[in-house]
Amino acid sequence: MSDGTGVDLEARLAEATTFDPPESFVEQANVSEPGIYEEFEENWPECWERAADLLDWDEPYDTVLDDSDAPFYEWFSGGSLNAAYNCIDRHVEAGRKNHAAIKWVGKRRETLTYTYQDLYREVNEFAVALRSLGVGEDDVVTLYMPMVPELPIAMLACARIGAPHSVVFAGFSADALATGMERAESEYLVTADGYYRRGNAFNLKSKADNALLDLDRGVSDVVVVDRLGDELSHYLGEDQHDYTTLIDGRAGETVEPVSRDAEDMLFLMYTSGTTGEPKGMKHTTGGYLAHVAWTSYAALDLKPTDTHWCSADIGWITGHSYSVYGPLALGTTTMMYEGTPDYPDRDRIWEIVDTHAVDVFYTAPTAIRAFMKWGERYPNDHDLSSLRLLGTVGEPINPRAWKWYYKHIGNGDCPVVDTWWQTETGGMMVTTLPGVNTMKPGVAGPPLPGVNVEVVDRDGEAVAAGEAGYLTVRKPWPGMFRTLYGDDERYIEEFWREFSDDADRSVYFAGDGATVDEDGYVTVLGRIDDVINVSGRRIGTMKIESAIVGVEGVAEAAVVATDADAAGDARVYAYVSTESGRGVDDALRDRIVDRVGDRIAPFARPETVVFAPELPKTRSGKIMRRLLEDIANGDDLGDTSALRNPETVGEIESAVGDR
Ligand code: WT7
Repeated sequence: MSDGTGVDLEARLAEATTFDPPESFVEQANVSEPGIYEEFEENWPECWERAADLLDWDEPYDTVLDDSDAPFYEWFSGGSLNAAYNCIDRHVEAGRKNHAAIKWVGKRRETLTYTYQDLYREVNEFAVALRSLGVGEDDVVTLYMPMVPELPIAMLACARIGAPHSVVFAGFSADALATGMERAESEYLVTADGYYRRGNAFNLKSKADNALLDLDRGVSDVVVVDRLGDELSHYLGEDQHDYTTLIDGRAGETVEPVSRDAEDMLFLMYTSGTTGEPKGMKHTTGGYLAHVAWTSYAALDLKPTDTHWCSADIGWITGHSYSVYGPLALGTTTMMYEGTPDYPDRDRIWEIVDTHAVDVFYTAPTAIRAFMKWGERYPNDHDLSSLRLLGTVGEPINPRAWKWYYKHIGNGDCPVVDTWWQTETGGMMVTTLPGVNTMKPGVAGPPLPGVNVEVVDRDGEAVAAGEAGYLTVRKPWPGMFRTLYGDDERYIEEFWREFSDDADRSVYFAGDGATVDEDGYVTVLGRIDDVINVSGRRIGTMKIESAIVGVEGVAEAAVVATDADAAGDARVYAYVSTESGRGVDDALRDRIVDRVGDRIAPFARPETVVFAPELPKTRSGKIMRRLLEDIANGDDLGDTSALRNPETVGEIESAVGDR
């Protein structure tokens, strides 16, 4: 196999630590001028107009950034626009009504295509329907829906009438839904009867009904999408409406997009994370949309002619930003897939990429490691030559997984962007620009032009190259969350206090540990709270995990510490899954322990290594360390409803028992 430069890809992959984007990619890239970094720096914050220029504004803004009340920043003040207009109408007006906006693939291989005209029509109908139910501007509408086209349609219908949406991931419990609705004081709910998961019909409506029983203030109206038809009958209570009946009653009706101030709320997103109280992140119309459109353009290199697939669930920020708002703002075709990657078989993703000639594919390292574990024969069965760019997000990617992705999915021809960002940041912050920068596997890259990231020590001083520190952002950015809904105090406390002084609250602490190299490339080490104390020393679990996944045959690792003793010392527990077909024996266990000793330090060596077929993950693919900690400590497991693969818990408990 050759990478186009004539050099054997196999050999290069084994040795190289840097990779340049192929010439053919650079030639066609949306952004290819290296000078863009300087240009943005010299011209900050006006540089962000380049992002705002990707949008159509009803009223032009008069100030790019208003920082008079930091950290309550305002972007593009005085401007007004409508997000749905930007994602739909303007493409129809530009003569692209028959271009595919959404391509949806169901679990049974059925496909639905919504052109921009189709989307225009249905979003309008549903917007009219929502209004007729009484939804007014600024009323929060909660969406508790699986991966059906009606989810982005409902989001855009809300945006059209200026009603912020609050999407609660369908895998979450009734409790989480009720909490989200209470906190957002949301009186409207759009949900579905159910959805398919691995071939089985799953009841969502009953969970929603349970949540509604818990609401103190009750609910005004509920709209139910009938996904399962005869497979699951559902009952519509008082003030509950069938989605299709509602829109059929409004066939062909339209509503003027409501002009929203740039700073008006576009949506709320409650994150529960793996610990702690739910936080309602408030995102706004102008800054958010500009940021996600710009990063879709500059980092994902999206063109209107592309078919883009971000495999995240739309219930997460990744899906909001890079399945819905970013790609649609640019007039691209965005893919949605209802099913799971391994059903009916482990080549499902590649079959879809092949069938739909996907150009840009964006997924999470945890998925890539699963693909790697399943083996290359699954992608090899398909023609993946339509791919031009690959992306990852959500957690650190180890170099081995990066290289596997680059080789077996990208065939050495596609740049890989490792994008660091958060629900809080709204859009990408740190990544290589694929048409500009050299890539380093395992290293996210430099901050995007105009983004000011610094890795600092406890005193807020920049660390030397290669030293671990805290990831901070020292200038605001357009896509940033504006507050935690209803809790300005906590917004300041949690994100702006740590590294800012009293006079100046302008340093954002992301909660992640990182290092930065001589070239200014940032390696994200993971959440700072995933730091354990062993033998009196603090060490990031991520460091130990990356040593372990470097062992031949290991697919994934999660390291936790058991309860600390009086001196604060804990024992290191490693949970390890192996590549498929790889047997588990003491020799492997020894190699793991030795490698940690060699690579890091003897004190960091895991005292216990537990082999498990799979590690427990949240729906967004984050390993549930809290749960693994509880297992290691023999504690009560508590709520496991946020897990994507609850069956792993029993397997791990019995593996621990066998030790
Ligand atoms: C946390 C944010 C942003 C969309 C997905 C998750 C981790 C994210 C990377 C990356 C290393 C990453 C960080 C971050 N993270 N991207 N490329 N390399 N770590 O959003 O649930 O808000 O999680 O995910 O720890 O803080 P989220």
